[in-house]
Amino acid sequence: MTTTIAIDELSADCQTAGIAPEELSAIRRFAGRDEALFRRSVKRFLLGDPLTYVTNSCCVLGREFYVDRRVYRPSQNTEKLVRHALGLIDDGKRILDVGTGCGWIAITAQLEKPASIVWGVDIDHDAISVARHNAHRYGVEVTFVASDLLESLPAEPPDYVIANLPYGTPDSGRTYSINAHLPRIALYHPRGPFAAFTELLESIRARGWHPEVFVEAGSLGVDIIRSAIPAGVAWDLVRVDEKFAIVHAKVER
Ligand SMILES: C[S@@+](CC[C@H](N)C(=O)[O-])C[C@H]1O[C@@H](n2cnc3c(N)ncnc32)[C@H](O)[C@@H]1O
Repeated sequence: MTTTIAIDELSADCQTAGIAPEELSAIRRFAGRDEALFRRSVKRFLLGDPLTYVTNSCCVLGREFYVDRRVYRPSQNTEKLVRHALGLIDDGKRILDVGTGCGWIAITAQLEKPASIVWGVDIDHDAISVARHNAHRYGVEVTFVASDLLESLPAEPPDYVIANLPYGTPDSGRTYSINAHLPRIALYHPRGPFAAFTELLESIRARGWHPEVFVEAGSLGVDIIRSAIPAGVAWDLVRVDEKFAIVHAKVER
């Protein structure tokens, strides 16, 4: 039996096992003609591994990025943050992506605003390796730096900061089963849901910078957001839809 026929037959079994056609096609695309890889991937998926990690691929704003278990799985919600921010940013600016994960926000910014200078930072070295790999795949010059917020960044002030920092709670794992598979550092801050944002604003102020800052706030309540924002920061809450909001902030001079 040729590999293709074997994979076709296995695919029919998979549909019987309840794998949806689009999930199956993603696994087939990933495995190509490698029957053993196809079998392993199907098994991982049936045992509960998210499709993104099984196929090492995630599509956001129409582009595919390499992902694995070392990094957060980009979310369709974050597309709204990036679309909104890039809609307000002119080309030729300095853009900083804080908490870059697989690097997709910084890489998208560089591709959409090619005359801009873009950095991405993440506290996690593994995330920086994945982000550099993705930048290489797209042939873009984004500077990725392992850094706790702004700590290890060069002293050039950005015009814009885009950040999807952790804003979950340990409880959100009950609502979103995917959370069980994601790096904890991507999900929670031990001091509370929006503490990473407070720290980011404080570190921007400590540097004497005044960028416009776009931060994902999901469905966090306005009281939590308000209590996280230090005095002297002007901000708006942009409600994109019922379940998704963005904070647009600026540290005042
Ligand atoms: C929710 S994930 C977002 C990843 C990516 N921006 C995305 O949307 O797919 C949050 C990211 O922030 C990083 N992170 C957490 N605390 C950080 C800190 N203090 N400084 C820099 N990055 C941090 C995590 O390692 C993780 O990659």
